[in-house]
Amino acid sequence: MSVFLIQGGVPLSGAVRIQGAKNSVLPILAATLLVPGTCVIHNCPQLTDVDYTLAILRHLGCKVERQGETVTVDASVLTDHNVPDGLMREMRSSVVFLGPILGRLGCAELSYPGGCELGPRPIDLHLSALRSLGADIRERNGRLCCDGRLDGGDVTLSIPSVGATENIMLAAVGAAGTTTITNAAREPEIIDLQDFLLALGADVRGAGTSVITIRGGKRLHGGEYTVMADRIVACTYLSAVAAVGGEGEVTGVDWRHLSTVTAVLTEAGCRVESGRSKITIEAPRQLKAVRPIRTAPYPGFPTDAQAVVMAALCKAEGATVFTENMFTSRYRHVDELSRMGADIRVEGRVAVVCGVPRLFGAHVRATDLRGGAALAVAALGAEGETVLSGLRHIRRGYADLAGDLTALGVKIREAEEIVSES
Ligand code: UD1
Repeated sequence: MSVFLIQGGVPLSGAVRIQGAKNSVLPILAATLLVPGTCVIHNCPQLTDVDYTLAILRHLGCKVERQGETVTVDASVLTDHNVPDGLMREMRSSVVFLGPILGRLGCAELSYPGGCELGPRPIDLHLSALRSLGADIRERNGRLCCDGRLDGGDVTLSIPSVGATENIMLAAVGAAGTTTITNAAREPEIIDLQDFLLALGADVRGAGTSVITIRGGKRLHGGEYTVMADRIVACTYLSAVAAVGGEGEVTGVDWRHLSTVTAVLTEAGCRVESGRSKITIEAPRQLKAVRPIRTAPYPGFPTDAQAVVMAALCKAEGATVFTENMFTSRYRHVDELSRMGADIRVEGRVAVVCGVPRLFGAHVRATDLRGGAALAVAALGAEGETVLSGLRHIRRGYADLAGDLTALGVKIREAEEIVSES
């Protein structure tokens, strides 16, 4: 097993081009199943979650090729409607295959994704919406068996779930009539999915607002598309500069997608400037605590940025209160940050981060994707060396964390973990 060795305390200087967005590329790749033709997708980041997604596409009969950041999927002939349990378990978001398989073939079988490291992640909204479009869904021994040619319908989500919105959009493209989703998620990745579907000849409008309308049953054709940049990866690198001081630039990213996070970093004392497709940050040696941060659906403060911003604020002057409103178990990085000397008290959904004057390098372990990235961010502000293990979590969402941090001036290298006998 390898680890990152990260040297802290060195102010940063450098620039990073931001990779393609994990949360866009996964539904976009699933959407290729709707097309009896070939799709060419650019800016596909090299992530383990993308590898699992491509494995599912291959299993279903697609011809898949990857050359660098470009993936070609030929879904002309599908030979299966069944996603094996092993692949479903690797990635919670594999549930997004349900809509397009059902929309294309009229039947689908996959296993229940179950809980994950962030706490329980139910899919009741996905299932009830697909049922209301005409799917017959039965649960047998942990497998979801779905049948039915879908019709359009009106779906109102009780929570603006990102995954449910995407699943319904994908199923509805293959359905016969018109579908309207009310209280849809408004995340930029939903707009990216709509833009991809439009490139294939689908009739979808409203993404980015709370009401999305899909006129299904259009004849789709192959197409070419470039995935948007990953706003959470950009937040991670801005937080990295904020954690230790110095200056940095992230390019290729739409600043509007990050405005709630850059507002927090500005309040904490950083100078943040946003250009057409880049953001620059200048950070002081010490940040100030900020007003309470509450995670919320887009355009609110993203739950995925909670951990990395918390890591940056561990040494701020004063106390910052975080309220995590999206997931029940999203403070697992806190114990690891405490090993580095952070003073964070958690009670239920609330975490109070009392700034400490110093953090110290330590052996810490990533237990989830963004929590793992947060430990790398904290390590930059710590004195001495941090040994960060659990890299498989980080590789789910960061194509080259070490390379990107190196470009920002961080001393980081990968090494084999030495396991002591005691
Ligand atoms: C997506 C993102 C994830 C991000 C999250 C919230 C992907 C691949 N992942 O996850 O990185 O943290 O949005 O921005 O895009 N819920 C239900 N029933 C459902 C579905 C959701 O109760 O059927 C609840 C969830 O438990 C959670 C909330 O709704 O509390 C939001 O979840 P959702 O937006 O669905 O998140 P994901 O799509 O899983």
